[in-house]
Amino acid sequence: MPFIVVALAVLLLLAGLGWLVHWLLIRTEGVFLGRRVVVWLYDLAATRYDAIKRYDPDTESAFVTWPLARRVKQVALESGTTPDVLDVATGTGRLPFFLLAEPTFAGRVVGLDASAGMLAQAAAKLAGHGDRAAFVHALAGDLPFADDTFAAVTCLEALEFLPDDAAALREMARVLRPGGVLLTTRRQGPESGYFLGRARARDDLEALLAALGLSDIRSQPWQVEYELVWAVK
Ligand SMILES: C[S@@+](CC[C@H](N)C(=O)[O-])C[C@H]1O[C@@H](n2cnc3c(N)ncnc32)[C@H](O)[C@@H]1O
Repeated sequence: MPFIVVALAVLLLLAGLGWLVHWLLIRTEGVFLGRRVVVWLYDLAATRYDAIKRYDPDTESAFVTWPLARRVKQVALESGTTPDVLDVATGTGRLPFFLLAEPTFAGRVVGLDASAGMLAQAAAKLAGHGDRAAFVHALAGDLPFADDTFAAVTCLEALEFLPDDAAALREMARVLRPGGVLLTTRRQGPESGYFLGRARARDDLEALLAALGLSDIRSQPWQVEYELVWAVK
């Protein structure tokens, strides 16, 4: 075989391998390589995560934490219980950070994540809030809390990274108090196609939430890549 053909074949093979590695590690953040790889990648990115995301406080409040604080307050008033919130796959504590800045929020937030690196960032960022913010190193599919514990459970930008989103949502519904609010996100937009079998269609996710016994399910426009999805237990 002429040298040029062999060289071209090797180049094509290397380009294909490079594309595959890029797709597996960067585009889809390790989801097709298993939970340990996903968590390892988040551990590696933890110190850079907030700088990459650059969340805008006004947008966070307007779409997520102000409406959430209002609903949590209502749940607590109606049930005579504490307005405590669990944030599953909390990462660097995005939801706890902005929720505790809401003047109407009077409860505590527990952030749970499988990445110790992401949790370390969250704990450092929220240290000034004392026992109003707590962090737990655990898996979304096995929440270490009793049934009916929280006034709200949130899980932002994470369902598509979990090995079994249905099992995780079942756990979230279990630890939610009757009347409590679930707030999660659905991956959408051009890049959702990379997450083959992981990014659910709107009807599919809403049907799953209904099958878990949740009601008042409402999908709300949010970002190009994500829709917000609200539900009540
Ligand atoms: C895109 S980040 C979202 C973080 C945060 N919710 C936010 O909106 O900024 C996804 C998070 O899911 C966490 N994660 C991935 N798999 C997990 C699992 N099986 N259990 C718990 N957390 C997990 C990762 O460690 C990471 O912090």
